[in-house]
Amino acid sequence: MKKIKYKINKLRKKILKYDYFYHTLDKPIISDAEYDYLLNQLYDLELKYKKFITHNSPTQKVGSNLLNKFKKVAHFFPMLSLENTFDLNGYLKFENRIKKKYIVNSIIDFCCELKIDGIAVSLIYEEGSLVRAATRGDGYFGENITNNIKTIQSIPLQLQGSNIPKRLEIRGEVFMLKSDFFKLNNKFSIDRKKHFSNPRNAAAGSLRQTNSKITAQRKLMFFCHGFNFFEETQCFPTHYEMLIQLKNWGLPVNKDILICSNHLELLNFYKKFEKNRKSFNFDIDGIVVKLNSLYLQKKLGFNSKSPRWAIAFKFSSKEEVTKLNNVKFEVGRTGVITPVAYFNPVYISGVLIKKASLYNKSEINRLNLHVNDYIVVKRSGDVIPKITNVIQEKRLKNAKKIFFPIYCPVCNSELLLNTEEKIIRCLSGLTCNAQKKKLFCHFFSKNALDASGLGPSVIYKLIEKKIIVNLIDFFYLETEQLKNLSNIGEKQSIKIIKTIMKSKKTTMNRFIYALGIVSVGEVIAQKLSNYFSFTHNLINSNQRELESINGIGKVVAKNIFSYFSISENRKLVKKLIKILDIAPNHHKFANKKSVLNKNIVITGVFKDFSRNELKEVLIKLGARITNKVSKKTELLIFGEKAGSKFVEASKLNVKMINEEELYILIKKSNN
Ligand code: IVH
Repeated sequence: MKKIKYKINKLRKKILKYDYFYHTLDKPIISDAEYDYLLNQLYDLELKYKKFITHNSPTQKVGSNLLNKFKKVAHFFPMLSLENTFDLNGYLKFENRIKKKYIVNSIIDFCCELKIDGIAVSLIYEEGSLVRAATRGDGYFGENITNNIKTIQSIPLQLQGSNIPKRLEIRGEVFMLKSDFFKLNNKFSIDRKKHFSNPRNAAAGSLRQTNSKITAQRKLMFFCHGFNFFEETQCFPTHYEMLIQLKNWGLPVNKDILICSNHLELLNFYKKFEKNRKSFNFDIDGIVVKLNSLYLQKKLGFNSKSPRWAIAFKFSSKEEVTKLNNVKFEVGRTGVITPVAYFNPVYISGVLIKKASLYNKSEINRLNLHVNDYIVVKRSGDVIPKITNVIQEKRLKNAKKIFFPIYCPVCNSELLLNTEEKIIRCLSGLTCNAQKKKLFCHFFSKNALDASGLGPSVIYKLIEKKIIVNLIDFFYLETEQLKNLSNIGEKQSIKIIKTIMKSKKTTMNRFIYALGIVSVGEVIAQKLSNYFSFTHNLINSNQRELESINGIGKVVAKNIFSYFSISENRKLVKKLIKILDIAPNHHKFANKKSVLNKNIVITGVFKDFSRNELKEVLIKLGARITNKVSKKTELLIFGEKAGSKFVEASKLNVKMINEEELYILIKKSNN
């Protein structure tokens, strides 16, 4: 019985945690299917052992049972996204593409609308009555939020007027007025609840309430901007006329619309709303420009992500003034020193920004940056935080000029300027703890060896306690050593060891990427593994050969060559090759003409290969590996300490090659 109670409690805790992420943070961390599965398990257990049911069990809460949870629904028409531009040039490209490619010599009307920063929803009306509402989801499947949508006052449950189609889809944005957002957050701070970071998140959170009464209290708003018909109905010829029709049926359409045929008018419309956006009671993040003719829209159609007949011409992100508190010089994985500015946090486009990269020394000089300066911050491309300038007139007396350090802030060795790449680097490599930490994390990261569970915090602790000195040490780690670290118990230790062991089995491109060689990202790693097919050839390549590889330039080739010129690196890579189980690159192998398409026997110990790796390489190259030497054996490959097989093969006059000769053969079979 104790076990059952324990299981029930554990399930409840899990479900409550997921509820919190889903409802409060609006950041679900498990799929609906998993959630339902857990809830079902709890139901079953509670049904069997009724005495354990408590009033606060998730099964007893209104809205948490399966019937009320949002069901997935398939969209009738995919809910795509919009192509974006941030400047007139981008817009003109869109316009020219339409004019040149598809429509010649005629004036084209565009319909410009405001781009509402809200949540996209689809509404289905049948015989004029609202029957289904769904979120965008992944564009193909959304969540059924009909009950919540029905609480939005401006969305008609029944359309009015004539010529209402049998079935109609309406697309639009649900949003929250800024004034309601501030009121809601004020109320939250009184109740000590978590705040929403912007009106959009507040609208999203409100739409996903399982209790529709809460949604109703949030006073959400709606504007429609699109429609889909299910039958060839008599419809108006333009998007604008259709919007008027929707309005006449009782649907809310934003009034700020411009029909224009030249980009100067369009630019005025854009500028007017960019200037006034702050005075609006709802967030807008640009304008949407659509071809007005529905016939031409149909003709242009869609690509996989967006319609070809529309574009979002987005406002450049808002700028905010704030105070610079500090500049830290961070040491990257490859020793590059990056200055990072930390300032008083500011909200820009709904996101709290506290820091921005200053990229390099010349950026600090360009800005003439001082600590305590008032700075202007924006998000370039509406995403990346950037300091655009310093308000020099507001410079305080206590402002301190920022100088780029001469020594590494972590290991104190002298920094060097790389004039070619215009970057300043600490060249201490793995003797610099910052680089070591980052490289080790990178080595086990998802796209490298993928040891999920061995995260930065464990890696940092292992380095700080000097349990791990180099990468090899990870593969000899014992649970006892992990258990000695703070906050790591027996179970987690076992899990971490398992994860490391599992990560040993990897592919050549992942392994090359994992090494963290300067300028070798996943794409270059793939190119190298395609070309060399197995790591040993890469280690022994020269700069000229590297440069000859398609897609690898001089600088990259030099970086790779420099990496393998350092004997420490060569030793490390060779040791890793032996410990790991690296599958060589596949697509070059296994052709019948391969010089290794033979019956082969292996004997002895090899310098750069584990036996398994060697076997795998050879098999991929078309070899048939057998354990015994016989008359059928065509080739014997021998390493050090070769034994009786070597003697037998020489008796039978079998061709024999050593490790070095083997590399030459492998190279041949790849070319
Ligand atoms: S038309 C195929 N018009 O912006 C999508 N979208 O960033 C056609 N949005 O997913 C959408 N205001 O949810 C259109 N006036 C407007 C809009 C608008 C906001 C949203 C929409 C879309 C997103 C793309």
